[in-house]
Amino acid sequence: MRDPDRTGVTLTCPRCEAALSARDRELRCDTCGESVPVVDGIPHFPVAAGSTVPSAFDALSSIYETRFWFPVVYRLIGGLRAPADDRSLLADALDGAGAEVLNVACGTGRFTRYIATDAAFVWGIDVSTGMVRRAQRYAARDGLDAIAFARMDAENLRFKEATFDGVSCCWALHLFGEIPTAVAEMYRVLTPDGRLVGTTLSRDWLLALPGARSVLRRTIGVRVFDREGLRDLLFDAGFTTVQFERYGAALFFSAEK
Ligand SMILES: C[S@@+](CC[C@H](N)C(=O)[O-])C[C@H]1O[C@@H](n2cnc3c(N)ncnc32)[C@H](O)[C@@H]1O
Ligand SMILES: [Zn+2]
Repeated sequence: MRDPDRTGVTLTCPRCEAALSARDRELRCDTCGESVPVVDGIPHFPVAAGSTVPSAFDALSSIYETRFWFPVVYRLIGGLRAPADDRSLLADALDGAGAEVLNVACGTGRFTRYIATDAAFVWGIDVSTGMVRRAQRYAARDGLDAIAFARMDAENLRFKEATFDGVSCCWALHLFGEIPTAVAEMYRVLTPDGRLVGTTLSRDWLLALPGARSVLRRTIGVRVFDREGLRDLLFDAGFTTVQFERYGAALFFSAEK
């Protein structure tokens, strides 16, 4: 695990966008005086109040990677034909070997850790403090060094433009409040020939049932995509080519800047 100030990536001020510099237990903006607390090595950027998403995932963080949660939900969404491990397909599409990578909505860092040995450096960000704390704990357990985490909103990425060769966003696009804003942010922080890869929910398989979609929308505000809608969203942000691979309701996507 690397200190936030030793990752070679510039974090920016949430108030004025200037570069932040590391102080004792905080990142400080020398331009406007704003400070961002760093708790146990994790910068805590401000996240919007009022959303129930962070607390829901805080509560889920301890079981998220166990056999009681992710593997069950993944099989339910992807069906029997989905790859045994969703991460291999994404890592191949990302081709993050030697690259600086950002993992947006990293959760407990399943994918962040998966690519951390090949990538030059990986940042994982998530709006849930519980998830990033656990992600950091798992990365330390695995002895990973080229990896760092921050609590940060996908809709307000605190990195300079063109920072990352690759951006990944696994199982989260459907949860964002302002999805076009988050996609525009991911586009902004990618280098000119960078690539975005991810997974989200498709209007197929169990989610072809209108009742299932409406329950997800009303209970946790989840949006379900179709390929055309997601392709338009990515093109509108500026991406030039988009590819899909679908298993059940699991939609894998890859887009070039
Ligand atoms: C289903 S989990 C996926 C975690 C991880 N990417 C994985 O593949 O296991 C969804 C994650 O999205 C995060 N999330 C939801 N809205 C977010 C936002 N606006 N900004 C950053 N993270 C967000 C949640 O906190 C949660 O950790
Ligand atoms: Zn500032």
